[in-house]
Amino acid sequence: MSVLSIIGALCSLYSIFFIIRFIYRHWFRTPFSWETYRGEWAVVTGASYGIGAAYAVELAKKGLNVILLARSVDKLQHVAQQVESKGAKSLVISFDFASASTEDWRRLENQLNSLTVSVLVNNVGVNVSLPTAFLEMEEEKMDQILRVNIVATQKMTRIVVPKMVERRKGIVLFLSSGGGVLSPAPYLSCYSGSKAYENALATALAGELESSGIIVQSITPFFVTSEMSKIRQSSLAVPSAERFARDSLQSVGYEVCSNPYWFHECISIVLSYLPLKLQIRYVAKLHRGLREKVLRKSVHKKE
Ligand SMILES: NC(=O)c1ccc[n+]([C@@H]2O[C@H](COP(=O)([O-])OP(=O)(O)OC[C@H]3O[C@@H](n4cnc5c(N)ncnc54)[C@H](OP(=O)(O)O)[C@@H]3O)[C@@H](O)[C@H]2O)c1
Repeated sequence: MSVLSIIGALCSLYSIFFIIRFIYRHWFRTPFSWETYRGEWAVVTGASYGIGAAYAVELAKKGLNVILLARSVDKLQHVAQQVESKGAKSLVISFDFASASTEDWRRLENQLNSLTVSVLVNNVGVNVSLPTAFLEMEEEKMDQILRVNIVATQKMTRIVVPKMVERRKGIVLFLSSGGGVLSPAPYLSCYSGSKAYENALATALAGELESSGIIVQSITPFFVTSEMSKIRQSSLAVPSAERFARDSLQSVGYEVCSNPYWFHECISIVLSYLPLKLQIRYVAKLHRGLREKVLRKSVHKKE
């Protein structure tokens, strides 16, 4: 047997193993069991619509009570009704992560610590409304992205995790993003930077909290239907928020850095083989095109 044929055989074996592992992970492995979390509280930030609302309803289906945080009370109450229709309790807290004062945070901490919170979904996130060059971004927008995506996420984690450590039980999910972690995102610089931060925070905490029995997971999706993505119709590449949240809750406790929707993982595999420079150029062109398209549309609307 020649060296080349041995290398060929090993590569084929690796590819077969890789494909079987992918199929097993997404379709056959035992989903995370939520049984021991039934009747306990989950906190979902940014729960009034989009992915956060979907997480809230899916957690209620698993038997958890849900604390819903965001600014729009009417929308939160609508999600609370859906949570309660699954037989769970809900608690609506109107909270603005961008402008909360020290006193607001203290009040929130007291409210959350009066309940047994076992799950935290750090979902809240803001982005620019259309791809924008770093030098053209308004400072106020940059600050808002950092306050909501980084500072609020960090504060929520500091509030909720100590009690989890005492009880040696808990789950903390961070909604990071494929853009920033798995691929570059020119024209979404601050947003993707904040998502890379969340991913780094999550993976570091996973190491620190594992011995306390706490599961920490960073989730790195590409597009999901929502207000933020401005995609309303789901497709093969873009799952609905409901489908995405369902897949995510099944994959808890497995990969620390997770892409629970199968097609997103396919995208990340392809990207991992492409040179970074090529990815940067491609995404820059894509986002410039997207920006021009949105601007053209808004000019047409005004005319
Ligand atoms: N959708 C995607 O394609 C995608 C892809 C990758 C990662 N992600 C991440 O997934 C998470 C959820 O995204 P999404 O698409 O569901 O976003 P979304 O549709 O824009 O929803 C954002 C949620 O956050 C709340 N929120 C925004 N600003 C807030 C503030 N200052 N204080 C309190 N709540 C605030 C909103 O409610 P109110 O307006 O009522 O406050 C809403 O409930 C984000 O972290 C995002 O970065 C999304």
